[in-house]
Amino acid sequence: METGTLDRLTHMTVTSQPSLSDQEFRQFQTMIYEIAGISMSDAKKPLVSGRLVKRLKQHGLKSYGDYFRILMQKDRRDELQIAIDLLTTNETFFFREPRHFDFLRQQAPSLSRPDRPFRVWSAASSSGEEPYTIAMSLADVLGDSAWEVIGSDISTRVLEKARSGHYPMKRIEGIPRHYLSRFCLKGVGQQEGTFLIDRHVRNRVTFMQVNLNETLPKLGEFDVIFLRNVMIYFDMETKRSVVERMLPLLRPGGYFIVSHSESLNGITDVLKVVTPSVYRKPNA
Ligand SMILES: C[S@@+](CC[C@H](N)C(=O)[O-])C[C@H]1O[C@@H](n2cnc3c(N)ncnc32)[C@H](O)[C@@H]1O
Repeated sequence: METGTLDRLTHMTVTSQPSLSDQEFRQFQTMIYEIAGISMSDAKKPLVSGRLVKRLKQHGLKSYGDYFRILMQKDRRDELQIAIDLLTTNETFFFREPRHFDFLRQQAPSLSRPDRPFRVWSAASSSGEEPYTIAMSLADVLGDSAWEVIGSDISTRVLEKARSGHYPMKRIEGIPRHYLSRFCLKGVGQQEGTFLIDRHVRNRVTFMQVNLNETLPKLGEFDVIFLRNVMIYFDMETKRSVVERMLPLLRPGGYFIVSHSESLNGITDVLKVVTPSVYRKPNA
């Protein structure tokens, strides 16, 4: 009797939650690889089912295959973007790997020229913490001179957050005290528990959607490019083509910065290593 009840319960649990078959998983695996260049190992199957299940519920669908068919419809680009947003990993924080920003502060004054703005690209900016960290560092050392930061990402959901420049107070960790008082506004009243990046810093940062796995839009040339914690999701072939696509946008003498856990070994020999994770394009 007891076993029968348990069997029924187990059965109910199994049938109420759609399960992702291996074949369906492969469809999503191929899709995210072809669009974003993201390689998902088979171990990512629970992550894919967990992240997409709410969309199945939203559409009242019984299987991942039905959801995949929606994504393949030409007039459902909106849903495809939502799926991409859900399948990307957007973890980031202010002053992540702080030595890169010490380096930027040291180099920016001598790299910048009076005849043109100093330009930095945060090429997988996620929700904005990295480009705002860059902007605070440049505001510190370049002040009112001409400089700008471009933040780009494939995910429109994180870009929307980034544009607001508005974060929960718990994200404040890592921002040096003297930057907090100069560049961040503490929320009061209804905004209690949040902070806003100061308008003067926010106005220097422009966000746009850029898929690094496609032909790049005309972004102009940059003095420094940050490409951190995104190549970890790419296979060797994708890493090579992404970096190759980005290199013409780096000024001769400019710096290309990857995360400390990444390297450009075997990816390009155009750039010369300065310190681990920091590369420089030789002067023409
Ligand atoms: C882990 S976050 C890294 C954020 C930040 N650079 C840092 O180091 O803290 C990786 C970001 O790369 C983005 N991404 C993944 N594939 C991309 C692609 N093909 N083009 C542009 N951005 C991509 C994701 O949406 C995500 O926001």
